[in-house]
Amino acid sequence: MATAATSRSVRRPDPNTLVIFGASGDLTSRKLIPALYQLLEAKLLPEHFAIVGFSRTEFTDHEFRDRMHEALKEHLDDFNEDVWKVFSEMLHYIPAGDHDEAAYRKLKQELKEFDTTHQSEGNRLFYLATPPEAYAEILELIGSSGMAKADEGWTRIVIEKPFGRDLESAIALDETLHTCFDESQIFRIDHYLGKETVQNLFVLRFANGIAEPVWNRRYVDSVQITVAEELGVEHRAQYYDSAGAIRDMLTNHLLQLLALTAMEPPVAFESNVIRDEKVKVLHALEHGSVEFVRGQYRDGTINRRKVPSYHDEPDVPADSRTETFVAVKCFVENWRWAGVPFFLRTGKRMKKRASEIVIQFKHAPFLPFQSTAVKKIEPNRYVIRIQPDEGAALMINAKVPGPGDMKIVNVPMTFDYDESFRVEAPEAYLRLLLDAMLGDATLFTRSDEVRRQWMFVEPLLSVWGDLERYPAGSWGPAGADELLERDGRSWHVP
Ligand code: BG6
Repeated sequence: MATAATSRSVRRPDPNTLVIFGASGDLTSRKLIPALYQLLEAKLLPEHFAIVGFSRTEFTDHEFRDRMHEALKEHLDDFNEDVWKVFSEMLHYIPAGDHDEAAYRKLKQELKEFDTTHQSEGNRLFYLATPPEAYAEILELIGSSGMAKADEGWTRIVIEKPFGRDLESAIALDETLHTCFDESQIFRIDHYLGKETVQNLFVLRFANGIAEPVWNRRYVDSVQITVAEELGVEHRAQYYDSAGAIRDMLTNHLLQLLALTAMEPPVAFESNVIRDEKVKVLHALEHGSVEFVRGQYRDGTINRRKVPSYHDEPDVPADSRTETFVAVKCFVENWRWAGVPFFLRTGKRMKKRASEIVIQFKHAPFLPFQSTAVKKIEPNRYVIRIQPDEGAALMINAKVPGPGDMKIVNVPMTFDYDESFRVEAPEAYLRLLLDAMLGDATLFTRSDEVRRQWMFVEPLLSVWGDLERYPAGSWGPAGADELLERDGRSWHVP
């Protein structure tokens, strides 16, 4: 299947050099390098382009290229040696120790040379793909070596989450960033925004006349957002155990999905217009009365495979009280949504991988059918499927065929990506890297959004009491079901 990257109308960025800090890490080989390779293949990279890997491991250019070669072969289904030949010539590497000012001087010197040898015209994109503990030092050294502002061309910085551990540290990180970069130079990644289906939310909502009239408290009963993972913590327990599901997923990905679902129609598809609207939603959340449930998985079975409990994962302390699941009930207190509950849930080691947004509509006000078989019917639900099986379905009630008693069942009217477009959705990182090079910040989070996100979750972080266990391979702890059942609702089963 072709990738949709090839069918985009061409938006080619300016020549530039991309510097990846943390180039020997997992994110670089799993996500960034494959996305860059695919951009080259789709002819979306600038005509003149270079990549500099910058991290602790002592690679030569040659060794770095070998390692990236292996990574591409491992992570891509359709790897092509001819494309690789062109790609490999773009790759360079500079090793850098702790507080290694000399390495930053060398980087500066090399970037200058690339302006000639790779014709990168003074444009630089810095990408922080290191653990967050390293951010402050890198930012300080970029600043003190005079690389944050170019004499000619543009300089931008892409930064990976987590943006702090709480409101205070997020503000501190922002201050450090702003000592060398303007907000217009900063691109904070939330990779969910790079997902094709998440961008399609804008279109499903704002390019369909039938959506707007019903997208409010008059017709919507409630909204559910689920991001369920089958995976556990893999090899990231050290990070994960100090983060937990609230910091790792709720603060960013789920709140972004909520903001896109609830935002007002923007007057233009422009970065600050969209972000202004999202901030208003996050602001309105602050005043909601929040209920939530934290959970941690114990051993269980997923797809007939036994998986150990969170406590037994390598590098997880036996007495860890970190949540691997969280469910929240909250309200967006504004004219559109007052009184409509938003239920969010995310967890690791759940029954299956499924991310979706479900708009549940109010029941028909009156049922005229006499049949005793029609006592209770399901509500209409609009299910927007983020991944996998990308698409959407409107669940409507229909008559079961037959001459006997009237029977009604809930059936889907579906839109399926594969069927409609016959292309695979491009990887989120491909889109986000391209947009950062183009200087388009629409799919990146702004400083005030990040603060609002932390303001919302902070009260949840300070509660360490209840932690319900749930078996791996389930839909989470019983408390998460009760959160809805109390009002006669239930989670949509993906
Ligand atoms: C990351 C989290 O941001 O998102 C991970 O740190 C999580 O813990 C991942 O597994 C999920 O992303 P995706 O794209 O696989 O749904």
